[in-house]
Parts: sequence; C-alpha cells; structure tokens
Amino acid sequence: MKTRITESFGIKHPIMLAGMNWLTTPELVAAVSNAGGLGNLAISAHTPENLKSDIKKIRELTDKPFAINQILISPTAKANMAVVIEEQVPIVNYTLGRPNDIAPIIEAVHQYGGKVLATVALARHAIRAAQLGADAVNITGHEAASHGGFATTLILIPLVADGVHVPILAAGGFHDGRGLAAALMLGADGVTMGTRFAMTHECAMHQNWKDVIVQASEQDTIYIDVGDPAVNSRVFKTKKIEEAMTKRFSLADTVSSALDAKEKMNVSWWKMITSGLKTAKGEDGMSIISQMKYASQTSNVDRVMFSGDTENGRMPIGQVIGGIKEVLTCQEVVERTVAQAEETLKAKYGVLA
Ligand SMILES: Cc1cc2nc3c(=O)[nH]c(=O)nc-3n(C[C@H](O)[C@H](O)[C@H](O)COP(=O)(O)O)c2cc1C
Repeated sequence: MKTRITESFGIKHPIMLAGMNWLTTPELVAAVSNAGGLGNLAISAHTPENLKSDIKKIRELTDKPFAINQILISPTAKANMAVVIEEQVPIVNYTLGRPNDIAPIIEAVHQYGGKVLATVALARHAIRAAQLGADAVNITGHEAASHGGFATTLILIPLVADGVHVPILAAGGFHDGRGLAAALMLGADGVTMGTRFAMTHECAMHQNWKDVIVQASEQDTIYIDVGDPAVNSRVFKTKKIEEAMTKRFSLADTVSSALDAKEKMNVSWWKMITSGLKTAKGEDGMSIISQMKYASQTSNVDRVMFSGDTENGRMPIGQVIGGIKEVLTCQEVVERTVAQAEETLKAKYGVLA
C-alpha cells in the first residue's frame, strides 16, 4: 500500500505502532518496523541513559525506520530530546508541549533530515502543528486508549483532512483492515494502533491482561473524566478505577505517584515542580490541580501492567478490545490488516455499479 505516509516515512505499509509508555519496548518497536509498519518507542518515562541504550537496541534489531514518542510536558523531555537529536532518530513523534518548545525541535530534526509527527486530539491543534512545520499529524479520537479528547475518530479525520495539507495518521479504534480502509476513505493516509499491538506476542504486557482483554467487550473500558479535557483518559474498567472515580481525588495517591515518577525519571523535586508549573502556563497545558488529579489516578500503572493484577490500578486500553479476539504476532497484525483493507476497498467498488 502506498500513501503519503508510506512515502514520507519510507515505510512499506501505512500502519504505525502507537507510542505506549512501558509497553513499546525495543523488541516491539523493531517487530513492527520489520513487519513493514513504523515502530514507535514511547520515551516519556525514560531517562536519557535508558533512551540511548534502547535506541541502540532498536538499531541492532532492525535497519528499518522507527520513531520515538515524547510527551513534551514530561520533566525529562528536554534531556531526552537532546539524545533523540544527537542520535538522529528518523521520525520524532511529539505530543502536548508549547509552540516555543516545539519549534526548535522541528528545526533541529529537519536539519538532520528527520521527520516530525505531531500527536493531537483536537482538529485545531492539528492545524496549528502543521503551521509550526510538523511533517505529519496523528489525530487521536475518543475511542483511543489513554488520552483521546471528546470527539471520535470518525468526526476528527475529515475535519483534519479539510484543515491540513500534510499527511494524516488516525489513532483510536483501529484493529483491522476494515478500519484502515475506512480511515483512508475519510481522508487519512494511514492508521496508528495501540491496543492491537499491545495484544501481540512481542508485547511484554502481562499474560493475565492479555487473557482478560481477549474475553472483554467494547463496553469494558471507562473514559476517566476528572474535570479537565487535557487529562481525560480511557482505561480498562476495574474495581479500583470505579472506586477512584467515586472518590475523585486522593492526595495520598497523588504524592505516592509523584514520588514514583520522580524516582523512575531520576529528576529533582525542583524539576518536577517547575515542569508542572511550565505545563500549567502553556496554552494546552494542564492546570496544577488537573496534574494532581491525573497523578492521583496514575500510580502503579506500570506495576499493574507487568504484575498481572487485573483487579487494581489503571490500565490504559481502547474500546477496540471488543474486536480483538486473539493474540497475534506483529507480522500477522500488519499483514492481515493490509490484506483486509485491500479486499474491503476492492469489494466496495461494487456499490458504484
Ligand atoms: C499502555 C498505554 C500507554 C500509552 N502511553 C502513551 C504515551 O506515552 N504517549 C502517547 O502519545 N500516547 C500513549 N498512549 C496512547 C496511544 O499512543 C494511542 O493513542 C492509542 O493506543 C490509540 O488507540 P487504540 O488503543 O484504540 O489503538 C498509550 C496507550 C496505552 C494503551
């Protein structure tokens, strides 16, 4: 399949692995790139040292293009982006962040011949990213795991296609070739899949979660709304999450989560606080209260993913779980998606007769 995305990124198929903190290991990234899609390493929870070693590992496992995904409001964003630029990562996928932080990144990446992909959840943010010089946009709908906005993918793709001239990836709700065909028809140039690739043999998500998700329906996720659109998030509906929604905000959980994040990212309290303040001041940034509310619900997310405790904690996952009935390899996901999209597009020509 040839689209503006495959041409721009130098990949075979218009399918990207969504950046997923904790899950997109070098092995998963390389597996998707080797299958002809675009592997994407989420690095917002990385230290610069981990990042260097993960980029090295990816390059040992594949000679194909790959991306990194950095949430620019993360306290380690600046240090991580310096490594990304030094390593000349082929595709840089950023999310959130302020124009003042984004513009120099785009300039530096373009200088070494790399491409920049902006992940957004609002049509107007896609337009602004293109104006800032992003080479492509990844628009994320309400169906998506983790941070989608209020509008669904069905609504967003044509809006963005009308508003920007750069290639478009669509994220949120895709797991098969019918979805890819539909996205192309709506004006996208490819799809991004998170939940589908989380449910692969190459993904390190605990087997207990894979077993639960295979049995789950499209009704088994919950969109956590804590009052600020910037922090809404879709997760698996567990008892613990339903309790968190009832009690809304816990200072104890917030502090424990912040401590956890501080230790993992190896940053000072000063850095944590200043990056929070900077974010709050940004046009699209979360308010301090929203950041605290968000933190109070994110504690233990990585432990939950790998411990196999499917009752507690917060597991980001998309509505598309309803359609995922088996764990596949990344190669199978990519090949089946492309084959089914081709069949679907050909079959639908019939309606014109
Ligand atoms: C476990 C997990 C972690 C995620 N972490 C990130 C992240 O670090 N950065 C990001 O931009 N999106 C993150 N996301 C959201 C995905 O990039 C993507 O938008 C979403 O998975 C697309 O929807 P889908 O799951 O229906 O395919 C995460 C999703 C999951 C499931």
